[in-house]
Amino acid sequence: GRPSSLEIFGDRYPTDDVTNITPAILAKLPLRLHTRPAHPLNTLRTLIESHFPEFTPLSSLSPLVTPFKNFDELSFPPDHPGRAVTDSYYVNKNLMLRTHTSAHEVEVFRRGADKWLLTADVYRRDEIDGSHYPIFHQMEGAKIFTADAAGMRAVEEDNARLRALLGRANIEIEDVPHVSATNPAQATHDPVYAELVAQNLKLSLNGLMLTLFGGAGASSEAPLRVRWIEAYFPFTTPSFEVEVFFRGKWLEILGSGVVRQATLDTANVSNKIGWAFGLGLERIAMILYSIPDIRLFWSTDERFLSQFTDEKITTFQPYSKYPSCFKDVSFWTAQDIALHENDFCDVVRDVAGDLVEDVQKIDSFVHPKTSRTSLCYRINYRSMDRSLSNEEANEIQAQVVDRLRQQFGVEIR
Ligand code: PHE
Repeated sequence: GRPSSLEIFGDRYPTDDVTNITPAILAKLPLRLHTRPAHPLNTLRTLIESHFPEFTPLSSLSPLVTPFKNFDELSFPPDHPGRAVTDSYYVNKNLMLRTHTSAHEVEVFRRGADKWLLTADVYRRDEIDGSHYPIFHQMEGAKIFTADAAGMRAVEEDNARLRALLGRANIEIEDVPHVSATNPAQATHDPVYAELVAQNLKLSLNGLMLTLFGGAGASSEAPLRVRWIEAYFPFTTPSFEVEVFFRGKWLEILGSGVVRQATLDTANVSNKIGWAFGLGLERIAMILYSIPDIRLFWSTDERFLSQFTDEKITTFQPYSKYPSCFKDVSFWTAQDIALHENDFCDVVRDVAGDLVEDVQKIDSFVHPKTSRTSLCYRINYRSMDRSLSNEEANEIQAQVVDRLRQQFGVEIR
């Protein structure tokens, strides 16, 4: 069964029936890859921080937050799916691992910061493949202005400065209206203010996209293509996503929007209006460095780590790929114990660590007479650092099977 308490950063926390943090996750909490010298995530963080030199950088906030702070304070509805124990990691009912850096918006605004960048590890339960990992890193950026005529003059000046910078750049932007019927300004906002702030958001982030993806930017090259798309987040409106066309594909880069006034009110800065964005560092680093598997960020192998230096993005030179070892497991689920796909994946991750590359559900059916559910999963075991023997994979697989039996009462077929 579960332990009666969990020790995290030297403190003990009681567990309860929602506790679902595994030892594999606990072991990674202190690692903070985004602050490791020469690590790609650290280099990408500093690159973005240098692009916004006047923003306050923050990167040491604890991942432990209340569900209130992660969700309620940001206007998430009570029934939002992100709150489910199948989707998020809980220490207990009152404490969880942040699922996004937006969880810190209120506290940072409350401290009085009006332009800031916050980088942190975030946690989400998910499937297993080359681009998903239950821990990843986000950067949140925000800028707020005084919501009066003088404040809006400051926005206009900033917009003019940013426009001048972009005017000379080789960039092609597909825009959407700053405000529309489907992406409305807030009732409490002067619509002119909301438009100016949304414009400032777009100009600021178009500049960042140029820094990250503009490459040499020589005028003979094809322009960088950036497209803005209407989006929805509970804590911003209007809201936008940004996509960039890079190496032949449209890539989703970030979410953003005009910060909901409720957030600023809670932070005691109701006289302000501003924008925020959140981006995933791994996704961008994988593209820029050509890193093919998200597990590599966690590698301690010198063949990985020695390739990188601070301040410069280079192309990852893959060392040989070791062979895959596929193992299937088929079973009947217990009638009375739910087994979510994310539960299955957490069992595999906890037993196999980073030796698991991919998990696929290859069969699922309900027996017509007994109405029992049968599932079959195919697990791809592969080490990134060495050749895994079939015996070793069999041993791991046997442990996975054991845990499925004990924790979820499954019956192996
Ligand atoms: N927190 C959002 C996410 O993780 C991203 C976001 C940040 C959106 C800030 C809008 C403003 O998807």
